[in-house]
Amino acid sequence: MCCSIVNFDINGCNYKLPVVYGTYEKAINISQLRENTGFITFDPGFKNTGITKSSISFIDGEKGKLLYRGYPIEQIINKCSFIETSYLLLNGELPNTAQLKYFSEKIKEFNFLSQEIYQILDKIPAFYHPMGILSSLTCILTAFTDSIQEEEEDMYFNLLAKLPILSALTYRKKVGLPTDYEVVSKNNNNLDYTSNLLKMFFSVPKKSYQINPVITDALDKLLILHADHEQNCSTTTVRLLGSVHANLFSSVSAGISALWGRLHGGANQAVIEMLENILNSGGNIKKWIEKAKDKKNPFRLMGFGHRIYKNFDPRAKIVKKVAENVIQKLGISDPILELAKELEEIVLKEPYFIEKKLYPNIDFYSGIIYQAMGIPKDMFTVMFALGRLPGWMAHWKEMRLNREPIGRPRQIYIGYKKRNIH
Ligand code: SDX
Repeated sequence: MCCSIVNFDINGCNYKLPVVYGTYEKAINISQLRENTGFITFDPGFKNTGITKSSISFIDGEKGKLLYRGYPIEQIINKCSFIETSYLLLNGELPNTAQLKYFSEKIKEFNFLSQEIYQILDKIPAFYHPMGILSSLTCILTAFTDSIQEEEEDMYFNLLAKLPILSALTYRKKVGLPTDYEVVSKNNNNLDYTSNLLKMFFSVPKKSYQINPVITDALDKLLILHADHEQNCSTTTVRLLGSVHANLFSSVSAGISALWGRLHGGANQAVIEMLENILNSGGNIKKWIEKAKDKKNPFRLMGFGHRIYKNFDPRAKIVKKVAENVIQKLGISDPILELAKELEEIVLKEPYFIEKKLYPNIDFYSGIIYQAMGIPKDMFTVMFALGRLPGWMAHWKEMRLNREPIGRPRQIYIGYKKRNIH
């Protein structure tokens, strides 16, 4: 601990501000800055601003490390399931056998949708983007919760059960599979969470769905890797709504909309579209890299760069291994995977990317796995949302338990001075 206050002078006056220490980081507490100095801070994109204290996840961007409740992601991915990880993020500790059984059973209690939701889904045109459908239906769920949620905690089980059903219905509507309850949710309660999710997506009438352990294991790992990531844009969105006491479902609905952005969760879809463009235009990787470096060109190399990681995104390393394993075990040759590996190799030697510390992020390889599972590109970010759900809910819960103030940043006004209408 180096110091407990910072001193600074403004126009000859000396001011002191307290220092806040976290487990690994330190911050200057500026909550009294304006009152004491008349100044506010200016930090577009909150690149240097901590908006809260949180104990859910921690990223060491310089070293490329990620912890969930203190456990390294490399240990979580090898020792835990997605449901155990969800329990950990929401409750702070890994579940014992009895706790895990209770958690899983409680989720299964909510494994159904009100008939009206099916009727609303029927009215939504199939060409709507799945993220728009998912965000809308998640918000509509608010209308169907009071009668079925007895305890406060039930809302977390309810949403963990409902989001996979909404996602599966969105997919099935898009590809023309039946979306009735009989086919989607009936008799699934004997399956684990991820197997049930896959069965809801891909089951067809008159044919029993065959669980493929390669696919189930790969998806469970992807859900874990997406489960939480500090104050990314969509999580901060969910926290902001929590701060004004918006309910959990509308807060998560807003998080889904934030995640849809192509610079955020929408990047996994944009990566595959980019790789397909490179492949279909002759595979000239160097040409595309030059485009990405050209300041005048809005094109960016999707799946590269990160606000926090200035080293490898540890999740990207794991996703790459999972992708290679899935492609090899499914016996598919995927030119997109080969192109992705070639592109990564060239980019990592490119001075522009080295100087700017731009490495592959989680979105660079994830789409390759989703595609191998038969999931269409515009559903990739829905899969990201399914993984991020426990993280969003853990942050919403933490915000509410800490009774944090309403999130309401200030601004620097640069408009007209006061003037009159003549
Ligand atoms: C996710 O926050 C999270 O944790 C997000 C996430 C999560 O789990 O929730 O990790 C998930 O959203 C991953 C990111 C997915 N997005 C992409 O892959 C889109 C491509 N990446 C970039 O758009 C960018 O890297 C961001 C948005 C990810 C980060 O942008 P920053 O931190 O605001 O950085 P920046 O835009 O200021 O870039 C710094 C410099 C700029 O050059 P200069 O103006 O300094 O000369 O690096 C350049 C940028 O032009 N740059 C890129 C680049 N990313 C940054 N140049 C080419 N290609 C890129 N991909």
